[in-house]
Amino acid sequence: MEQHKTAVPGPASPHARPWPLLGHLVPLLRRPLAFMQDARGMGEVAEIRVGTTRAYLVNSPELIKRILVTDADQFADLGNLFERPRKWIGPSVVLVTGEQHQRQRRALQPAFRRTVVEEQVETIRQAVVAAGATWEAGRPLAVRDEMYGLIIRMTYRYLFGADPAPKVLAELVRLLPVVEKGMAFHVINPLPVLSGLPLPSFRRFFQAVDRVNQVMSDAVSLMPQPPGAGFVSAARDAHPGGQAELVRAEATAMLLGAVPNTSAMLTWALHELAAAPGLQQELRDEVRTVTGGRAVTAGDLHALGGTTRFVQEILRLYAPWLITRRTTAPVVLGTVRLPAGALILISLHALHRDPKMFENPDVCDPARWLPGTAQPVPRETFLPFGAGKRRCIGEPLALVELIITVATVLADWEVRPLAARDGGIPRRLATTAVVHPADVPIIPVPCEYQSAPSQGKEP
Ligand code: HEM
Repeated sequence: MEQHKTAVPGPASPHARPWPLLGHLVPLLRRPLAFMQDARGMGEVAEIRVGTTRAYLVNSPELIKRILVTDADQFADLGNLFERPRKWIGPSVVLVTGEQHQRQRRALQPAFRRTVVEEQVETIRQAVVAAGATWEAGRPLAVRDEMYGLIIRMTYRYLFGADPAPKVLAELVRLLPVVEKGMAFHVINPLPVLSGLPLPSFRRFFQAVDRVNQVMSDAVSLMPQPPGAGFVSAARDAHPGGQAELVRAEATAMLLGAVPNTSAMLTWALHELAAAPGLQQELRDEVRTVTGGRAVTAGDLHALGGTTRFVQEILRLYAPWLITRRTTAPVVLGTVRLPAGALILISLHALHRDPKMFENPDVCDPARWLPGTAQPVPRETFLPFGAGKRRCIGEPLALVELIITVATVLADWEVRPLAARDGGIPRRLATTAVVHPADVPIIPVPCEYQSAPSQGKEP
């Protein structure tokens, strides 16, 4: 008879030693990348403790595929991790399961078709040019803040078909990092009672969530009633009756799904480009050859092969560090028997850096994506947007935003590094729902020939 064992106890390296009471929570939050990478050595399924909660970190690509795609129904319970954000945000597609999820997802899907996204290329490009117009030649640029603001603007525009008023944009730029950071703590905090403590940082978090909801509510209420196209119309279809509060829940969830991830990828992209002047020039040459100096358009996307491969490589290197599931019934995973309700952790980040899958996994090498290379990348284990029924709905938008932003920045600017580097990853990392460099100061220098109007002088 087949033998089943319990999961291998979790990683015990210096990065990942459990703390009394809190278990692996502290190392998980402090050094998530090192933690996840260490855990890979602990077998297909490693047991992690977060307070009194046991969780199972799944490292095998085959088992990850089973969880997300083939046997997704056995892992479809979002569990109490999602109950808390559902209370704060409402029953958006991200936070509901089963039939309800499928219904909402089906209704929202048309707003994210590639053709719909491509209609936005010019507004995406204009947003990048407008951001560039505020950069000063030779003056260090706080790239993370810059990309955060840029993606908030693009996402708002995508959702509501209009730019946010400057006051609204400034408020979202201030509030979203507070929500993002607080969410990371309050969602996995093993002692819910802690969240009720009257600490100033907790109060700031809950006030920021309320305010973001209010801003989204105001934006939804300004939208014309159907008929109309676009996200708000799809969100009204997702909720029979089209109650404004439920449409607002979808909008808040989209903003929170889009901004941290996409802005982190762009920050990493500029960070890698600043460190690789040769690659930077190669991509700039590609953009110039394709556009001949005019503004980049949707029709250019297919010709920007090098830029697309670079974006893929960034998505491989900096994929989300954690997604979660819960088992709906007792289940055997590999050689491990798990009870119903078991919390499953998957790190796409660690998966993409597995040396068994990717040669020199920590190296940024867009050439690995060239067709016909000796060591083709295993595309089935490249999952930056997840897989299966819950695969990222915003993937087409994110890809276009990343490619157009990189191409537009490179056409106009050379980016030079200022940050100290430590094995390719800046020393100070910040971890929320995504892992991003705490900041990447970069020096922008205008290129000799600019394809679009932007200000700034040679240093
Ligand atoms: C580079 C940027 C992005 C990355 C890496 C990313 C990654 C992901 C991943 C891995 C998932 C699956 C989570 C899971 O299986 O539990 C997901 C889901 C989701 N993402 Fe994204 N995402 C990005 C951008 C966006 C954008 C631009 C939007 C919307 C405008 C968005 C909205 C969503 C939503 C709504 C879901 C939940 C889908 C569902 O449950 O049916 N994401 N994303």
